[in-house]
Amino acid sequence: MKRMLVVIAGLVLAGCGVVLAPVDPALVIEAQRRFPDATEVELLRGREVLRTKCAQCHGVRDPRAYDEKAWTFYVGEMSARATLTSVDKQALLRYALVARDAPLPP
Ligand code: HEC
Repeated sequence: MKRMLVVIAGLVLAGCGVVLAPVDPALVIEAQRRFPDATEVELLRGREVLRTKCAQCHGVRDPRAYDEKAWTFYVGEMSARATLTSVDKQALLRYALVARDAPLPP
């Protein structure tokens, strides 16, 4: 029984354990290499959307857990559930795609 509780606690915590890459100058440069009109404000918004609106039903999904094709698909699928505007959608996708490859803070 105790063991089972530990397993359940582990599963619950798993969703909270996702570390999202911070929007630092390196991330902004990388984003602008891919999307020339990306801005720091847009990336901050994308990170916030992922952290809040996209975590209403399940935990935060890790940008690293999906490839580019999967992210494009899931942002399309999930944006209606999270009632994202087209601005939110673009911000989220851009953040997720650059955060996938960004180094995490120590
Ligand atoms: C209204 C509830 C709800 C919201 C809001 C929501 N999701 Fe989901 N999400 C689900 C459910 C339920 C599933 C399980 C599979 C399915 O139904 O497609 C899921 C599955 C997923 C998956 C598939 C892989 C997995 O781990 O199950 C990803 C990735 C995902 N969501 C990302 C997002 C993103 C990104 C957002 C924000 C745009 C978001 N979700 C917002 C309910 C939601």
